[in-house]
Amino acid sequence: MDIIEAIKSRKSIRAYKDKPIPKDIIEELLEISVRAPSALNTQPWEFAVITGDVLKKIMEDNVKSLEGGSMPNPDVQPVFFEGEYKKRQVDLAKQLYGLLEITKEDKEKRTEWTKQGFRFFNAPSVIIIYSDKSLSEGGSMYDAGAIAQTIALVALKYGLGTCVQSQGILFPEVIRKYADIPDTKRLIICITIGYPDMDFPANKLVTDRVKAKDITKWYGM
Ligand SMILES: Cc1cc2nc3c(=O)[nH]c(=O)nc-3n(C[C@H](O)[C@H](O)[C@H](O)COP(=O)(O)O)c2cc1C
Repeated sequence: MDIIEAIKSRKSIRAYKDKPIPKDIIEELLEISVRAPSALNTQPWEFAVITGDVLKKIMEDNVKSLEGGSMPNPDVQPVFFEGEYKKRQVDLAKQLYGLLEITKEDKEKRTEWTKQGFRFFNAPSVIIIYSDKSLSEGGSMYDAGAIAQTIALVALKYGLGTCVQSQGILFPEVIRKYADIPDTKRLIICITIGYPDMDFPANKLVTDRVKAKDITKWYGM
């Protein structure tokens, strides 16, 4: 697949076919993706690939934590958006709920959709990107972003869809219960990955973008 076509066609996939991804494909995908750039080539990323029964247990415990009213305490604290950024967040939710035909009043369906996020959209595999806490949060976050996008693009070569996701690791204690990632490591982000179910309405969403020309200033030209 051509690089421009890959960048243009990548989008978040929030439902997957019930089909496991062969281990060698994920191995190859990660081996290619570590060509991503990082500050001073520090390569701060480490991966936990979670699948099968372990993933099922994490999905269940994530949802139990949510239902039990546990306060999320992610290793990377979430940002709360305001102004234009808040509007974009709300627009995304409206578009997703619109496609899913979930109304504002339908609290039950909204809660169920939220739970789907905590179940990693039932993806067959999840890649958690983490880094050592001795590294600065800002630096390793930047590098994690670079590798996350690289993984999402390389995944397309194998017919795989992805969703970069912070929701699934909001309860890091659940992840650590089943995957022995020590406390000295910071869980940064996860990527749900699998063969896309393109019949699922939310997978039809193509999100908006502000035109680059509207946010670019030119100097010296
Ligand atoms: C850091 C980060 C965290 C995200 N967390 C979530 C999430 O928790 N749940 C979700 O459904 N999508 C999540 N997304 C996906 C974004 O909503 C998505 O990338 C954005 O709406 C643009 O849509 P696109 O990926 O289809 O182009 C996240 C994306 C990023 C980069």
